[in-house]
Amino acid sequence: MLFMMFLHSINVLFILIGSCNPLDNGMMRTPPMGWLAWERFRCNTDCKNDPENCISEHLFKTMADRLASDGWRELGYEYINIDDCWTAKERDSKGQLQADPDRFPGGIKALADYVHSKGLKLGIYSDMGNFTCAGYPGTTLDTISIDAQTFAAWGVDMLKFDGCYSNSSDKAIGYPKMSAALNATGRPIAYSCSWPAYEGGLPPKVNYTLLGDICNLWRNYGDIQDCWDSVLAIIEWYGNNQDALQPAAGPGRWNDPDMLLTGDFGLSYEQSKSQLAVWAMLAAPLFMSNDLRTISREAMDILQNRLLIYIDQDALGVQGKRIMKSHAIELWKRTLIAGQYAVAILNKGTDGMPTPFQTSLALMNILDCKQGYKIVDVFAKTEQGSFRLNDTIFLKVNPTGVVLLFIMPLC
Ligand SMILES: *[C@@H]1O[C@H](CO)[C@@H](O)[C@H](O)[C@H]1NC(C)=O
Ligand SMILES: *[C@@H]1O[C@H](CO)[C@@H](O)[C@H](O)[C@H]1NC(C)=O
Ligand SMILES: *[C@@H]1O[C@H](CO)[C@@H](O)[C@H](O)[C@H]1NC(C)=O
Ligand SMILES: *[C@@H]1O[C@H](CO)[C@@H](O)[C@H](O)[C@H]1NC(C)=O
Ligand SMILES: *[C@@H]1O[C@H](CO)[C@@H](O)[C@H](O)[C@H]1NC(C)=O
Repeated sequence: MLFMMFLHSINVLFILIGSCNPLDNGMMRTPPMGWLAWERFRCNTDCKNDPENCISEHLFKTMADRLASDGWRELGYEYINIDDCWTAKERDSKGQLQADPDRFPGGIKALADYVHSKGLKLGIYSDMGNFTCAGYPGTTLDTISIDAQTFAAWGVDMLKFDGCYSNSSDKAIGYPKMSAALNATGRPIAYSCSWPAYEGGLPPKVNYTLLGDICNLWRNYGDIQDCWDSVLAIIEWYGNNQDALQPAAGPGRWNDPDMLLTGDFGLSYEQSKSQLAVWAMLAAPLFMSNDLRTISREAMDILQNRLLIYIDQDALGVQGKRIMKSHAIELWKRTLIAGQYAVAILNKGTDGMPTPFQTSLALMNILDCKQGYKIVDVFAKTEQGSFRLNDTIFLKVNPTGVVLLFIMPLC
């Protein structure tokens, strides 16, 4: 592993990584990044009255255009993913799923071609059960194979497989069966499983060894909603259950705490940074669900923070953990490649004044390099300086905000 870093100026950070790992043949060796329709656009099928925002090929082409032209793709945001409500109400005469003919007049194959022409990948959605969650045709045990073949024939690159309208025993058959069916198509199709979310997300009901063998990522908790309480609930659940969840993640197999809300209506600027910081600590997939046509410069800057993306995409693929919780403050730590670390200090409090917080490398159990570490504030894009192991690190964390630190060994 060749590692080079240039701290160019306090405002610009260029990071180059050259890696050579012959074992990494599979998909999603780092958490996937892209855009997913659900949180922001839901099941809006009213193209007559709301043509710019309805679930349609127009929406996905438009978002693909933005991913390709506004710097997203180059940063790794490469998937453009369809969620529920894309199909017609019935399968076609051959029993295949078909896109709604009015909203997707060109069909999914043409949409996939378009997305590929932009250097992006297309994700699609179906549901292990009688119906999708929104009531569209589901994928039952007997249609798994035909649906996998249909998606492959269309040139789809990823499948999110939801779990409404089926029971646990059918899910236990259906999720592994879809994994095998996707593999049998011969087309690499990344596989996102909603299975654990329907089984409470925890062992013994959820077998994370099995999930890691059959899925590239999985949702294990409820759907995110456009508000801070929802983000907090997810963070709390991941922290409380980290002993079960953290070992499940690794290259090719990721916990998915759900979509990013930055650019939407519910989170403040501070809260948007907090969600991203904790998601980076969790080695989470980074799927935005926002309107890339109208996103503010401020929201774009957070989502396009190179060092944050670098932390999320770290090649070791070790999920971080909450290492301290005291009053409103939580400290999350993630071990990165080449002796580096990332630490997020989250202030869940709403006391109007930034909360002072002191720590040291030694207190955070960052001790490998006796000479000390250089610390960079990821969002402020400032160098905090070099610290010996026992030097006090003084921070102030804004209400419902975060300080995200990138920590490089001086050794
Ligand atoms: C799915 O449909 C089958 C066959 O009609 C039925 O037996 C089963 O109860 C349904 N399952 C759910 C969860 O609706
Ligand atoms: C689950 O649903 C299937 C029908 O899809 C049915 O045959 C089976 O008996 C159900 N199992 C349980 C445990 O309810
Ligand atoms: C199918 O699985 C085999 C064995 O795990 C793997 O080597 C191969 O790359 C997979 N193919 C596809 C298309 O996923
Ligand atoms: C979990 O799944 C793995 C892989 O399929 C299997 O070897 C193991 O026995 C399962 N564990 C439990 C507790 O069922
Ligand atoms: C840091 O402080 C602890 C406790 O005071 C001390 O035992 C340790 O030797 C110090 N480490 C360094 C590197 O100064």
